[in-house]
Amino acid sequence: MEIMAGSRTLTMVKPTAVQKGFIGPILSMINKAGFRIVAMKYMKLSIDQAKAFYLVHKDRPFYNDLVTFMSSGPIVAAILEKENAVEAYRNLIGATNPENATEGTVRKSYGTSLQANAVHGSDSDENAGIESDFFFSMIERY
Ligand code: CMP
Repeated sequence: MEIMAGSRTLTMVKPTAVQKGFIGPILSMINKAGFRIVAMKYMKLSIDQAKAFYLVHKDRPFYNDLVTFMSSGPIVAAILEKENAVEAYRNLIGATNPENATEGTVRKSYGTSLQANAVHGSDSDENAGIESDFFFSMIERY
């Protein structure tokens, strides 16, 4: 039987979660949930890079604050692979606002506010592709 590779999503561990020492626990949850790590990077986004990443939100009132926050310290970016990856990962991380997230999700466990909600996860296959291309070239994917 052919083994299906599954689809892919893009995540970032956000600056506050990195600073609080939650990279390891979050990666452990990702691992236990059965995602395969295709690519991974530890880096600090510049203001312009954060602006470009979140360009879809440029007209939202929280855009400037979000850009400042996301460039305030290092993040971990990763491409994750699993069957139905975008939806599976959104289920693992929970609602955007940690207050509304289900018990046991990443954001409920490690998020502290709507902005500092521990992780980003792509909201569609199309955006997963765009966001993965933002961080990773083809020779950085395994
Ligand atoms: P993320 O999944 O990274 O996508 C956009 C981010 O904007 C979101 O998580 C939140 O951290 C942040 N954000 C701040 N304010 C809001 C808001 N009012 N609605 C949605 N997202 C917000």
